[in-house]
Amino acid sequence: MRTLADQPLDLRIDGNHMWREMSSRQYFDEVARKWDKMREMFFSETVREKAISVANVEPSRLAADIGAGTGFITEGLLRKGLRVIAVDQSDAMMNEIRRKFQGGEEIDCRVGEAEQLPIEDGAVDYVFANMYLHHVEAPSIAIREMARILKPGGILVVTDLDKHNFDFLRIEHHDRWLGFKREDVNNWFIEAGFKNVVIDCLGEKCCAQSSCGDTYASVSIFVASGKK
Ligand SMILES: C[S@@+](CC[C@H](N)C(=O)[O-])C[C@H]1O[C@@H](n2cnc3c(N)ncnc32)[C@H](O)[C@@H]1O
Repeated sequence: MRTLADQPLDLRIDGNHMWREMSSRQYFDEVARKWDKMREMFFSETVREKAISVANVEPSRLAADIGAGTGFITEGLLRKGLRVIAVDQSDAMMNEIRRKFQGGEEIDCRVGEAEQLPIEDGAVDYVFANMYLHHVEAPSIAIREMARILKPGGILVVTDLDKHNFDFLRIEHHDRWLGFKREDVNNWFIEAGFKNVVIDCLGEKCCAQSSCGDTYASVSIFVASGKK
């Protein structure tokens, strides 16, 4: 039987969990090819429909999908006739999104980080960020950075998890934040200069089964929007 002393150095033990220590980027690079299947188990397409409907998008406008992954939100925006800049830290996710949309002219994929998005100031009409905020190191900075790339009058829509206590998500899915208090999200939007800030229940839950034990997470999702 293997003991802890036998484990390679990047294995860690936390309670009942043993996991490989890796960065968020490494984690998402590893899951990129199976992300669409994972996403289907976590949350449904209603999340995308609600997020996009809140922004009341107009065709031909330019949107950014931040933390785009394999393009869950991007796909909905393209269907509505928008052009999209998809940004993600993970090269593997960006490869998947390029493969999925076959280099279409309406989509521009860029590898980039939350604190320094690879988009110029005031460039886009809408910014969407689905299930991204709870992975970033500093959510308030990430929101400020998303405000920077919006045109005046542009709209930010963040869909993410309400505060919860399912610690296994931190270990098994690399969540940095166990959801958010809506009050904090509201303050970050205001501090970033947004007006007409509304935070509402999206009406859906994000669900995940722990791979260790029988813990099952079911967490409500909020939709936050504001106008620059
Ligand atoms: C949970 S996935 C959501 C993907 C997609 N938005 C969706 O709804 O399917 C989070 C995504 O955010 C990206 N991400 C996490 N932290 C990031 C950061 N600091 N900068 C840029 N992207 C980041 C990850 O690489 C991953 O693709």
